[in-house]
Amino acid sequence: MKKIGMLTSGGDCQGLNTAMRGVAKALYEAVPNLEIIGFLDGYKGLIEDNFRKMKPANFSGILTLGGTILGTSRQPHRSMKLPLEEDGPTRLELMIKTVKRHELDCVVILGGNGTHKTANLLSENGVPVVTLPKTIDNDLWGTDVTFGFHSAVDVATNVIDSIHSTATSHGRVFIIELMGNSAGWLTLYAGVAGGADIILIPEIPYDLNSITEALRRRAQQNKRFSIITVAEGAVSKENADLSKKERLRLREKSKYPSLAYDLAAQLSSATGQEIRVTIPGHFQRGGHPSAYDRVLATRFGTAAAKLVYEEKYGFMVGMHGYDIEPVPLAEVAGKLKLVPSDSAIVASARAIGTSFGDVPPKPLKSR
Ligand code: F6P
Repeated sequence: MKKIGMLTSGGDCQGLNTAMRGVAKALYEAVPNLEIIGFLDGYKGLIEDNFRKMKPANFSGILTLGGTILGTSRQPHRSMKLPLEEDGPTRLELMIKTVKRHELDCVVILGGNGTHKTANLLSENGVPVVTLPKTIDNDLWGTDVTFGFHSAVDVATNVIDSIHSTATSHGRVFIIELMGNSAGWLTLYAGVAGGADIILIPEIPYDLNSITEALRRRAQQNKRFSIITVAEGAVSKENADLSKKERLRLREKSKYPSLAYDLAAQLSSATGQEIRVTIPGHFQRGGHPSAYDRVLATRFGTAAAKLVYEEKYGFMVGMHGYDIEPVPLAEVAGKLKLVPSDSAIVASARAIGTSFGDVPPKPLKSR
């Protein structure tokens, strides 16, 4: 007999239900009299002891369902050591109390970067925890890939494909802004998959002159249109050294709602070309998980179930090459996985003439 808690925390993504199904089905198969308590809306449910007793049937029919059947919310890690109510226990103490009250053997937590910081805090404070890596940003340390990422890449690629046809008809420049504040994985993959001419990601600061030069070159080659994919957190060379807070302040001061509109104004005055902006936003996180993510999330789910079964706590399941392995939470928490400057994908894109808005290295020489 085992009693486990389960929760999904942070921004949702495709594959959360698939992964929970994988954990639950594998444990129901292996453990007689298994009880699963689902905490609602992420850590909020654990803090407030808001839960739902799950049944095997709750995990059926959800393989392809987007979102999360448990709900989710963002609970900042920095608030965990602060009391929920004046002079009351901290959120961390409340979570520990909930775990004890339900006599849970373990809590299974599905989340991204912020979620993992809190999962590590719980683990350091004696709560048995097993975690699964989710995020469309793919920026979680300790795993080659997170579930949700490839589904979002598929959605974003479809957007670029559709924009290509209208951009061609009108001979326009389009800027497509994709999600990714710190990491450019989604913009890079979708940009390459969708054949973007210019890809701007936070890891490679851009120079406006290099972008206008790339646009001019295409126009001189009688190419009627250009597609720019830009990550929401991409940064100019001038602002590259600013802190996250300073960049946020600059963005708030701008008269444009997001970077894509800012860039559109700057590029249209520099080149005289007609520029349109498309922002798919949360569309990228919605809908069914892709076939790839269904397989990945099922593998992560069953690997997490194995850790729970073997009572190996304090780990995230991470993908390394083709294998799924446990990674200590302390190694994951608080670290970001960014696109490396020597990324093979960036090199391939450069080799076919894609601009990253910087001064490119000599063709093929840097590979
Ligand atoms: O972390 C996933 C993500 O979709 C980021 O790419 C994006 O910057 C952020 O969440 C948006 O957050 P919210 O859903 O809270 O607006």
